[in-house]
Amino acid sequence: MKRLIGLFLLASISGAIGWICLRGPVTAAPSAVVVQRTPERVARGKYLYEVVADCTGCHSGRNGEKFNLPVIAGRNGAGSAFPKEAGFPGSIVAPNLTPDPESGLGKWTDGEIIRAIREGVSRDGHALFPLMPYQNFAKMSDEDVQSVVAYLRSLPAVRNPLPRSSVDFPVSFLMQSTPQPVSTPVAAPDRADRLAYGTYLATLGACSNCHTRREKGEAVAGMELAGGESFRMPKLEVLSANITPDIETGIGKWSEQQFIDKFKGFANFNESNLPANVQANFTLMPWLSFRQLSEDDLRALYAYLRTVKPVRNTVHTHPIVASEI
Ligand code: HEC
Ligand code: HEC
Repeated sequence: MKRLIGLFLLASISGAIGWICLRGPVTAAPSAVVVQRTPERVARGKYLYEVVADCTGCHSGRNGEKFNLPVIAGRNGAGSAFPKEAGFPGSIVAPNLTPDPESGLGKWTDGEIIRAIREGVSRDGHALFPLMPYQNFAKMSDEDVQSVVAYLRSLPAVRNPLPRSSVDFPVSFLMQSTPQPVSTPVAAPDRADRLAYGTYLATLGACSNCHTRREKGEAVAGMELAGGESFRMPKLEVLSANITPDIETGIGKWSEQQFIDKFKGFANFNESNLPANVQANFTLMPWLSFRQLSEDDLRALYAYLRTVKPVRNTVHTHPIVASEI
């Protein structure tokens, strides 16, 4: 908190930021694009929504009793409030993304949805709390973001009115400067370029957001992807793993095949055989989503992870008992 308050004092002497405080975030008008809902786009959008970017993981009702908190049937995209144990500054709600006109996105234009996803601005112009990874999604290509919209439009409408997030001061103030317009076309990287494509997938999959330890909301310098960030639910705690190529404490010894096998190892779980969610297996790593990554995409992610700086950092991902909340 000290750091945040320090930042706040700094900000309050700056006229420009004072203006942002009064006027809200920097926004651009949403584009007037009308997304053609082709079967290819719906399929690609489903893959991005359910697998690569795990939108469903935050925006759906999930069953906290079962391993990896599977999405509850009929609640896909219907929105969800985060428990207070998650430790966010305020009460954070991931809104309903289904086409329900009252409680979902039914009345939004395609351009408004695209702006929310990539620029972090809601329909009424307010800044979104950056747990929504819009800073990552700013890099989502024009074609991919249109595919996500095409898929969202195909979801069954679920009526589920939820309160809006309420973010505590001073974060509510500081986050006004986070949204940034995406004002130039965004091309998808060439899939044949494994490293570029793997970097793209890691950005959309927000690997770094979970795998980099944060202090007071800020990534600790030099610890990129070195793990140790804590995630909690009542009586449960898990720390993210070190996925840098460090030989001893990261995944430096993993072959490409071992990396693929780790994800595919979750393939046989289904609704009827998922174990209970207990401290020994608790994880928020989106295994149930990421196990559906194509082998090609897993290879690209592996290629990318080989290039990051190895960081020596031993992480015990499963403390025997969750620390006090
Ligand atoms: C880590 C969690 C998380 C992930 C992953 C995530 N979101 Fe969100 N999203 C949120 C939260 C939380 C909010 C609301 C923030 C707020 O209220 O300030 C939000 C807001 C939104 C909004 C604005 C809705 C409104 O009513 O203002 C849209 C649209 C949206 N997300 C779409 C997506 C899509 C599409 C994806 C995947 C490409 C995605 N989100 C991935 C957490 C997430
Ligand atoms: C919502 C948070 C979250 C996101 C997003 C996330 N991870 Fe994880 N990940 C974790 C946690 C927590 C663990 C440790 C517990 C476990 O193994 O499930 C983990 C474990 C792993 C492991 C196992 C490492 C080991 O030593 O066993 C790999 C590999 C991995 N993540 C890769 C990735 C990649 C690649 C991405 C992005 C495409 C990613 N993760 C995104 C939270 C996350």
